[in-house]
Amino acid sequence: MNDIRVGLIGCGGISGAHLPQLRDAEGCKIHALCDINKDRLSAAGDRYGVPAERRFTDYHDLISHPEVDAVDICTPNFLHVPMATAAVEAGKPFCCEKPLGVSYDETLKLKELADAKGIKSMVCFSYRFKPAVRYAKYLVDRGEIGNVISIYAQYFKSSAFMKDRPLDWRFVGHDARYGVSGDLGVHILDLASFLAGDVTAVTADLGIAVKERRRIGSDEIAPVETDDFCHFLAKFSGGASATFSITRAAFGNSNQIRVEIYGDKGGFRFDLNHDDRLEYYTGGIKAGNAIEKMETVEVPAEFRAVQMQCFIDLLHGKPDRYIPTLEDGVKLQRVLDAILESDEKRQWINI
Ligand SMILES: NC(=O)c1ccc[n+]([C@@H]2O[C@H](COP(=O)([O-])OP(=O)(O)OC[C@H]3O[C@@H](n4cnc5c(N)ncnc54)[C@H](O)[C@@H]3O)[C@@H](O)[C@H]2O)c1
Repeated sequence: MNDIRVGLIGCGGISGAHLPQLRDAEGCKIHALCDINKDRLSAAGDRYGVPAERRFTDYHDLISHPEVDAVDICTPNFLHVPMATAAVEAGKPFCCEKPLGVSYDETLKLKELADAKGIKSMVCFSYRFKPAVRYAKYLVDRGEIGNVISIYAQYFKSSAFMKDRPLDWRFVGHDARYGVSGDLGVHILDLASFLAGDVTAVTADLGIAVKERRRIGSDEIAPVETDDFCHFLAKFSGGASATFSITRAAFGNSNQIRVEIYGDKGGFRFDLNHDDRLEYYTGGIKAGNAIEKMETVEVPAEFRAVQMQCFIDLLHGKPDRYIPTLEDGVKLQRVLDAILESDEKRQWINI
């Protein structure tokens, strides 16, 4: 088995999770890097032993390099589809950070092109790789909690209040398009769709808590254009109803993700700060006055998975059973667009 030689684009925050996983993955080599920020590029290159001749500032050079077998896209949202399209056109498989793009239309075109050329890909809905989520999926598929009736999902951060945080790309409409809806919300949307089927309708309310920020490298103050909080109701194809609360303006929460799912035979909940545990109730209604209580179970070891190893395994012909696909990315992009449309029109949007 030859190593897959990966070229990673975007040596910022999330590359700090991808690169160590790629370094440790079986059947893989970090072969090339790209960033427009030369300091980040050289720091990552030095750290992961990528020689100067395979460090690029133009992503086209990385993608067209004959020794790059696969592309890993870790850049701001608006660059995902152009970079993935360039990879597809070069006949190279790719893995792309979430959300897949900045509109349903552009992601659909990407999928059509990738399908036509038979290019393999993965979208980094990272919470799919959490043991508690995978175990929950297994239990739902076995019918352990029956038909899913309701989902309550929360993703709370306080990052909008980070001291002196400038107007980085996450706050700029052109670069990110979605605020927490696409940044954090898409993770728990993926998780809920993974467990309860496709979203069929949404109604949403979004808002901005910190309305202005200083532009990077300047004293100019400019408006924040993307949502700091996003609340929505969703209906699912299997009939489930869900509430989602997503915010980067909740003091006291650095990264709090809680999901509760209830079916007609049982339910479970998990807290992704303890992702190897699941609280679980099954068996339907107990006799007499028995007190219903959730049990905490440790997730069996077989439900562990490492995101970037799964990407490499896919390219070696061994796809993970729960791998997030381009189709998942496109479907969720449609939901993200419907969330923005619902907020704007103040009404339910059918999908
Ligand atoms: N899966 C997850 O849990 C998770 C977590 C964080 C971020 N993300 C996603 O990862 C992506 C990047 O987020 P981040 O937090 O790492 O952002 P970041 O700003 O820290 O890093 C982005 C990097 O891309 C580089 N870049 C910008 N334009 C470029 C270009 N034209 N060519 C090459 N490099 C370029 C920047 O210089 C920067 O180093 C986003 O889509 C975000 O949603 C996912």
